Amino acid sequence: MQKNPTLFPLLIIIFLALFLAACAGSSQPTAISGQAKPTVPAEYAGKSNPLAGDPAAIEAGKQRYAANCTPCHGASGMGDGPAAQSLNPKPQPLAKEMSTLQDDYILWRIAEGGAMAPFHSAMPAWKNIFSQEQIWQVMAFLRTLK
Ligand code: HEC
Repeated sequence: MQKNPTLFPLLIIIFLALFLAACAGSSQPTAISGQAKPTVPAEYAGKSNPLAGDPAAIEAGKQRYAANCTPCHGASGMGDGPAAQSLNPKPQPLAKEMSTLQDDYILWRIAEGGAMAPFHSAMPAWKNIFSQEQIWQVMAFLRTLK
């Protein structure tokens, strides 16, 4: 029986293609949710919300969230806003994640957004739009979501 000389290179090419496809798949921008969160930069690390639980802050934050965050994060913070479908990566169900996120991490993410590694997302940076107090207000509201 004679071997087919073209078959072996062909198999290599097929395996290579499958291998490359697998690699490309794993380097897609994946949701950060559920994985270990990146370390909070020194500028934000250790900060905690001075307005936590404050009813006036929660109310102010609620309005700010409704006006600015719902298009992507959804009215109840489940990541189902009208703009969410077209985003990659998509917003996570923030309401569910809140209990696992520290104040300093949330502050950092709201202030600096998702333009940088490892996020590379459409999450806007709010630090030039909101004062730090306004970010704390939004966070106080986020903590009420479940
Ligand atoms: C244009 C869409 C968009 C808007 C508007 C937006 N976000 Fe986001 N946000 C995202 C996306 C997408 C992610 C997920 C990717 C990431 O972590 O960067 C995200 C992530 C976050 C995270 C980090 C969640 C985590 O688990 O790491 C927080 C906190 C957050 N957003 C809060 C807010 C708040 C508060 C507002 C309003 C002031 C807001 N976002 C407005 C798209 C948006």
